[in-house]
Amino acid sequence: MGKLLIRNRKIMEKNKIDRRNFIKLGSLGATVVITWPLLNSCNGFASENKNTINPDFQADLDFELTAKETDIQLFQGNTTKVWMFEGNVLDGDKTTVQKLGKSYLGPIIRVRKGQKIRVRFKNQLPEESIVHWHGMHVPEEDDGHPKDVIANGETYVYEFEIMNRAGTYWFHPHPHGRTGPQVYNGLAGLFVVTDDEEQRLKLPSGEYDVPVVLQDRQFDNNNQLVYLNRGRMDRMNGFLGNRILINGNPDMKLSLKSGCAYRLRFLNGSNSRFYKLAWEDGTPLVIIGKDGSLLDSPKSKPYVMLGVAERIDVWLDLKNRPQGSQMIMKSLSFSPGMMGMMGGMMGRGRNNLPLGSTYEILKINIDKTGSNDFELPQRLAEFNKLDPATAVNRNNPRTFRFFMRRMQWTINGRTWEMTGVTEEETVKLNTTEVWEIVNRGGRMMGNDDMMGERGWMRNRGEMDRDRGMMGGGMQMPHPFHIHHLQFNILERDVSGVDSRIWNSVKDGFIDEGWQDTVLLMPGMSVKLIMRFEDFKGLFLYHCHNLEHEDMGMMRNFKIE
Ligand code: C2O
Ligand code: CU
Ligand code: CU
Repeated sequence: MGKLLIRNRKIMEKNKIDRRNFIKLGSLGATVVITWPLLNSCNGFASENKNTINPDFQADLDFELTAKETDIQLFQGNTTKVWMFEGNVLDGDKTTVQKLGKSYLGPIIRVRKGQKIRVRFKNQLPEESIVHWHGMHVPEEDDGHPKDVIANGETYVYEFEIMNRAGTYWFHPHPHGRTGPQVYNGLAGLFVVTDDEEQRLKLPSGEYDVPVVLQDRQFDNNNQLVYLNRGRMDRMNGFLGNRILINGNPDMKLSLKSGCAYRLRFLNGSNSRFYKLAWEDGTPLVIIGKDGSLLDSPKSKPYVMLGVAERIDVWLDLKNRPQGSQMIMKSLSFSPGMMGMMGGMMGRGRNNLPLGSTYEILKINIDKTGSNDFELPQRLAEFNKLDPATAVNRNNPRTFRFFMRRMQWTINGRTWEMTGVTEEETVKLNTTEVWEIVNRGGRMMGNDDMMGERGWMRNRGEMDRDRGMMGGGMQMPHPFHIHHLQFNILERDVSGVDSRIWNSVKDGFIDEGWQDTVLLMPGMSVKLIMRFEDFKGLFLYHCHNLEHEDMGMMRNFKIE
């Protein structure tokens, strides 16, 4: 830990100098854009250190993670060309990096809070890449920012301490403009953290702790992956595959034992598809965790909306399910609320799995018997939620609107800049803030007033009358994600959501616990409370619909 802080302090000093380089952009009015030189502090630092190891960093786990192109046998007949992460433990417990069987998905990495890990990321892809640890609280240079991409043949060394609490995290590439295709080609893996508190609960472990990564893909007649085959429309809406894969395997089956209790860790690892998950026979879903924490107690839900990049931990009790029986999980029908020009065509046409239709996700074959004595605890994690009274802007949240402007997905009218960050996006270390994320634009597309002095934000009444026309007639669900921290959801305001949409999803949200991703249906807004601590630096917030992210619905925020 000491080492990390020292490294971080060096960066902070560098940033102090670099801050002199800020430029005022007249066209943005009062907005100050701080632009670091291309070879900014962190890259400058990186070129000295990030391709070599720090010999003073005592890693509990030291492994290579290689991204490469390979062929795997997913179907009968032709093999499929995929991109894969391959893990190789150099030092530490070999069982912490577990390979999934017949799959393109990356390894499952299992770590414990307080451990120090070193990852030597080797890029053997034909293009630039960088790995991001989704949900993890790490310093800037370990976060996998798009500015830190490395070329084919290069290595990037991550060295960080696990500071997060027990939860289901994951990792995936984050090069700007290429995250969608890289994840789609197969690059993603689970990063599972445990801690003492979780260990005391004696939750299902080993073979009873089962990953369920949901992804949709499309394959051609030669078994090759198909991506963005409808061009611009796929980008604007997000790409949808026409079949579901579980853990990178087209089989969609899990084989579990009668007489046992399980913990299923669901990750929606799809590019843009999201799900309304339910057991087909009406058994409630018992949720014990969401993103970066266990819940305080188990919650029973008729169904759960799982947005892109969100995770839920599900308790599954097969004690009274006979051997030979089956459980099926479906995505139930809902109204995704994609209105406007392209909305009507969304996911229709040639796709036999339109977003919001009913289809099977997963078959659980209870084809063996066994026994275990895991019991569902009535109390799970203790956590002190952040207290709104401690927020510096309790009654005046920072507001980020996700909307379309001039046929571009934007956040407050802005799109991606590699190191650009505005005052609106700059926060202070050791403060707690409330952020309001709004899936709704201001006035009409192309109205430059939107950028003027935040004027559109005062005009709520007018905006709400225009609801549905926002962004030039296009609205979509957006999964909001922020790097570096976990937040609590203070409130979800659905007064702007069309009732047909809301009624079809309203029982599916889990707003407890610590989270890093939240799904916003059209017209919805959420208030989040978050704390900036331990590290200064430049981090990301964005829409986790990977096509939207690649198009620039992503921005930096800076902790200073
Ligand atoms: Cu899953 Cu920017 O992250
Ligand atoms: Cu992330
Ligand atoms: Cu989006």
